[in-house]
Amino acid sequence: MTPKPIRTVSTVIRHTSEPIPGIRVMVLQDEDGWELPPFRPGAHIDIHLEKRLVRTYSLCNAPHENDRYVIAVKREEMGRGGSIFVHDRLAVGQHLQVSLPRGGMEVDPQEMNIFIAGGIGITPFCSVIRDMEYRGLANYRLYWSSNGPACLPEMIQPAVDAGRVDIVNTLTAPIPDISEQLARHENGIRAFCCGPAPMLDAFDKAVSDWPEERFHVERFTPVRIASDPNAKPFTLVLARSGRQQVVEPGDSIVEALIDMDADISFSCEGGICGLCRTRWIEGPPVHNDRILTAEERAQDVMICVAGCKGPRLVIDA
Ligand code: FES
Repeated sequence: MTPKPIRTVSTVIRHTSEPIPGIRVMVLQDEDGWELPPFRPGAHIDIHLEKRLVRTYSLCNAPHENDRYVIAVKREEMGRGGSIFVHDRLAVGQHLQVSLPRGGMEVDPQEMNIFIAGGIGITPFCSVIRDMEYRGLANYRLYWSSNGPACLPEMIQPAVDAGRVDIVNTLTAPIPDISEQLARHENGIRAFCCGPAPMLDAFDKAVSDWPEERFHVERFTPVRIASDPNAKPFTLVLARSGRQQVVEPGDSIVEALIDMDADISFSCEGGICGLCRTRWIEGPPVHNDRILTAEERAQDVMICVAGCKGPRLVIDA
């Protein structure tokens, strides 16, 4: 019998703090102090808050600090409930199941790396910058705009102290021009952006003619999928059990799987976190996510935002 793959590890909340109102920092560790599964700079984990409530957060500590996962969560009153749960219902000593870390950012070891962050969008860069500082790499610059005082400068204190961070408070200064920030550097740069939607739009525009491998966008706002007036119902088939269900236009595959009581994991429901990635066998799917490459889409699909071009979508579930 094939053993069930390990998807989560058990952690305990060891420490929490609120360095500024509305931002909660939590340190998760193995209960007995064992090392946790390794992660790459810029990686994230899914935290299982309760049944069907899973949220994805960037790891803020350096990868070599392998006895802990540190996350920072902004309270979003108008969000989908995950951040409120983290702020109001989690306490030191509680146990949390978390996924194995996923994703990460590939910095260029030789050329200049430009990080552009907006507000809490600093979080995926914390582990990247801490890792670069740890490895003695200074070939980067962080441009960090914030609608008020920057929220977690102590997370990247060595970089701030070394003068490699430009912080702009947009309450007292104009919103920086991303094209102009990128143009300050010679050719051969790699650029990364994480922040609110208008910032990501400006970044997308600034790098629109760059080769794909020279930039990376990290999203924390789920993609809005425009409804397709020509969409038709299709039959969702679970290959392993043979079970089927019709998915009507406007309904999601995730909803269909919940109706079928299938064993699925999902978090963002917006095609940006990668948790619902599933192999497809027959379709083809309509891909609406923002993370899979063309090559990856040839075999996998983010089911939270996908549709189907044909009458049947068969998935490996
Ligand atoms: S749940 Fe996040 S990509 Fe589908």
